[in-house]
Order: sequence, then C-alpha cells, then structure tokens
Amino acid sequence: MNDDPRVIVALDFANAGDALALVERLTPNQCKLKVGNELFVRAGPALVEKLATLGFKVFLDLKFHDIPNTVAQACRAVADLGVWMTNVHALGGVKMMQAAREAVAEMATPPKLIAVTVLTSLSRADLCQGGLDVEPAVQVERLARLAHEVGLDGVVCSAQEATLLRRQIGPDFLLVTPGIRPAGSEIGDQSRILTPAQAIRAGADYLVVGRPITQAADPVAALQKINAELTTVVETKP
Ligand code: C5P
Repeated sequence: MNDDPRVIVALDFANAGDALALVERLTPNQCKLKVGNELFVRAGPALVEKLATLGFKVFLDLKFHDIPNTVAQACRAVADLGVWMTNVHALGGVKMMQAAREAVAEMATPPKLIAVTVLTSLSRADLCQGGLDVEPAVQVERLARLAHEVGLDGVVCSAQEATLLRRQIGPDFLLVTPGIRPAGSEIGDQSRILTPAQAIRAGADYLVVGRPITQAADPVAALQKINAELTTVVETKP
C-alpha cells in the first residue's frame, strides 16, 4: 500500500463523465489526480469535491495570476474543495505569493501551494517579446528561488530543470514535473521529455502524466507499468 504515489494522472478530459470513467478504474494508492483549466471550467467544483471524496489527492492546476487579494480569496475557495495541491504563477510577484500562502495557511486543511515559473511552451524569443531578455532557465531559477523564499511548497518544472533546482534549492522543495513519457510511448506535442525513472532520478517528487495513461489502450496497465518502473529507482536527493 502506497499512501504517497508519485504519479499524478492529468485528467485532461472535456467532461466529468469521461474523467470519472477513467477514475473508476484507478485507486488512490496508485496515483494522484490533476484537474486543469478545461475540465474545471466544464465540470466545476463539484467534480473536484467528488474526486476528493473518493479518497484521491487532487492537484487543482488553475495557475492563479492576479492581484494579491484576488489570488488569496481564490486560494481560500480552492482549499474549501479539499484539494491536496494547487498553484499560482510566480510572476504574480512576492506579495501575491505571500498573500496566497497566508490564505491557505489559515484554512482547516491547507493544500500544498506551488508556483509555475516559466511555462515550458515559452522560448527565449517569447520572453524577449514580452520584455524579458533572459534565458528561460535563468528566469526559472530566479522565480523558483523567490517561491522558496516566500515559503511556497515547490514549483512545477520540466524534468530537465529539476536537476538544477534540486541542486540549488535543496531537498525540501517539491518539484512537480510534466513532460513525462515512458520509453516507447507517443511524444505528442511535448518536447524535452524524460522517462518516469529519469525524472525521479533528476530530483522530481511527483510526475504529471496525461496522455501516456489517459490515451492508452489499457490505462490501468500503463499506470501500473510506470509505478513498477519507479520502484526500481534509487533516489539521489542532495
Ligand atoms: O498528456 P501529457 O502527459 O503531455 O500531459 C501533461 C499535463 O501537464 C497536461 O495537463 C499539461 O497541461 C500539463 N503541463 C505541461 N507542461 C507544463 C505545465 C503543465 O504539460 N509546463
């Protein structure tokens, strides 16, 4: 029995029915679940509460980015849903992250609060267009350090960034990494991918896995295969 599974299945479905059809075949000791913008907008808080009631740890991935008061209130609302983890954009600033952290800390069951640094879809040229003339990796590290200093629990980052951040920020900072592809699976639109074992070796705490599980002919077998791969990994946190 594993009460802290490392795989977070991204429920990237367009409706609650499709999401629940998969969830019915999964158990909370095999995986956590991620609900993102699309499913949340379509299915709403009721689905999130239902997943939590079924015993799953839920990462509500809504990436808040607004003024401090608005983000703090949104984080309070998220905590009321009984989720395990949620997130904000680090670029919202220190005051915003502090307000979010203080808001969740006051709640009866505070979710873990992590930050998005630089979206992995953004290149240096994209940052430059927005007025940030900096390498994405430098910006990732800068924002991750800010999130750490403010007392957030961790960041979402690519598995490649995990190696650097683990070394620079230390062991007690959650690194949640998407862009995971088991050997032999479709890459899809992801770039800079790592296998589950490589990502854990790089220092990731939790792996967000979507299509390799949700689009598999047998999603349960795909998840079990990833979990089996992870049991073979010896971790090397600093
Ligand atoms: O299907 P796939 O495994 O690529 O899904 C990855 C999940 O992680 C999706 O829900 C996607 O939105 C999310 N994600 C990502 N890259 C980021 C941040 C989040 O792929 N940088």
